[in-house]
Amino acid sequence: MSEFVKTVFGPLAAPKSGTCIVFVGVGLKCGPAVSAFLGGAVELIASAAKTAQFEGKSLSVLDILAPREFAAERLVVIGLGGAKELAETDFTALGGFAFSKIGAAKEVSIGFEPPEGTWDAAAAADFMMGVQLRAYRFDKYKKKKDDDKRSVALVSIGVNDVEGVRLAAKSREALVAGVEIARDLVNEPPNILFPIEFANRAASLAKLGVEIDVLDEKAMAKLGMGSLLGVGQGSARDSRLVVMRWNGAKGKAKKSAPVAFVGKGVCFDTGGISIKPAAGMEDMKGDMAGAACVVGLMHALASRKAKVNAVGAIGLVENMPDGAAIRPGDILTSMSGQTIEIINTDAEGRLVLADALWYIQDKYKPAFMVDLATLTGAILVALGQEYAGLFSNNDELATHLTQAGLATGEKVWRMPLGAVYDKMIDSKFADVKNAAGRHGGSITAAQFLQRFVNGAPWAHLDIAGVGMGSPASEINQSWGSGWGVRLLDRLVADYYEK
Ligand code: BES
Ligand code: MN
Ligand code: ZN
Repeated sequence: MSEFVKTVFGPLAAPKSGTCIVFVGVGLKCGPAVSAFLGGAVELIASAAKTAQFEGKSLSVLDILAPREFAAERLVVIGLGGAKELAETDFTALGGFAFSKIGAAKEVSIGFEPPEGTWDAAAAADFMMGVQLRAYRFDKYKKKKDDDKRSVALVSIGVNDVEGVRLAAKSREALVAGVEIARDLVNEPPNILFPIEFANRAASLAKLGVEIDVLDEKAMAKLGMGSLLGVGQGSARDSRLVVMRWNGAKGKAKKSAPVAFVGKGVCFDTGGISIKPAAGMEDMKGDMAGAACVVGLMHALASRKAKVNAVGAIGLVENMPDGAAIRPGDILTSMSGQTIEIINTDAEGRLVLADALWYIQDKYKPAFMVDLATLTGAILVALGQEYAGLFSNNDELATHLTQAGLATGEKVWRMPLGAVYDKMIDSKFADVKNAAGRHGGSITAAQFLQRFVNGAPWAHLDIAGVGMGSPASEINQSWGSGWGVRLLDRLVADYYEK
């Protein structure tokens, strides 16, 4: 949970001090409990609203000094507009929006009550999640801190059914922690977060009962992972493959095939010998956002004790130019036995995933695999930063991911796969080549991955557009967005927990 805000739940009662936030509809209508505790303050709100031309439109704000007879010092009135049902994502966004209005306040009480109807326990939990996600900050490397904004705000959320909400909030708290871990990992600088350090952080999930396997270069060489190891061979840093296992399934499902998540963890991507241009290269510290998501997801699943068997695997490497680095023209042999001609050393993510995917399907026989990778610039050209690209050989899995995306706001858009695209990665000298032309760049990358899933149900999420540097939103102000943790937790919760 964010170190900058502490959220607690309590009854819907008048605050004793600090800032008070309430919600109103059009015509300044507010709910019964809030009306009761506002008492005479309602008149002041009405006259202030008139002066400020505040009508309670959706996400409009009236920020005023509270009247003397009211115990709080400041009143923030947030409009909700007309009587439309709010969706889950609206409550999360509303939490983020509310947090953005507290300014430097240290003590905040929120009357979480709708102007009309009722909000359930899940709504309050989602709202809390929005507050927490908005409050996230990554300033551990700033010596000069903005001290005023740094100290912790205590946000009390007033609700009707305190116990019910606390229960509903438990899983959201696990989720917030998972997103924060993913964001931290993406934001960390590459001199600090190199493959071994990343592996150590993933290994810390052992404290939650997650079983950890760390494969070092020797172990990977023994398994024949020439593709993954090829990427790391130009780096002074050792490569690692980490497997995290959460065995939470109960009863009859105890021994069921696990669901598997595989993340690209390129701790820094210079492009290698096919080196990238200098401008913006610093962003390539985020080329491990897929792996970060898998760690955050496993954290969330384990800490909410999800009733599922899940495997998380992350391929951790650094892609550097060096005398020992792979060259265009080199041919690598992957664990699957397939040989790969290197056309472009900057198409390294697929090389890492090739061995990771093969290893996971071979060893764990999962019900399905979902991989996440900041794989191609081309997906940014196709979809911008609004949707992740979804590629899949399984319609049911693709539909589930699409639904989970709509439910959480981490949206995916399905892209095509097919034999004509697959042909584009046939190689003159080897079984497959790691890069085709510019056309359909995200698709040919996905076709490459598909050659290493051995027919297992699989989906690939190209998150180059959403995993980092995405535009700030109500619930994310961080460069590393932690994208995918909420999506995949939801996928598991809605379809695969037994
Ligand atoms: N990590 C990059 C993709 C990327 C680009 C992620 C922008 C985030 C933002 C990946 O390794 C890469 O370099 N892909 C190449 C593939 C090409 C050489 C076939 C690309 O997209 O240009
Ligand atoms: Mn690259
Ligand atoms: Zn990359």
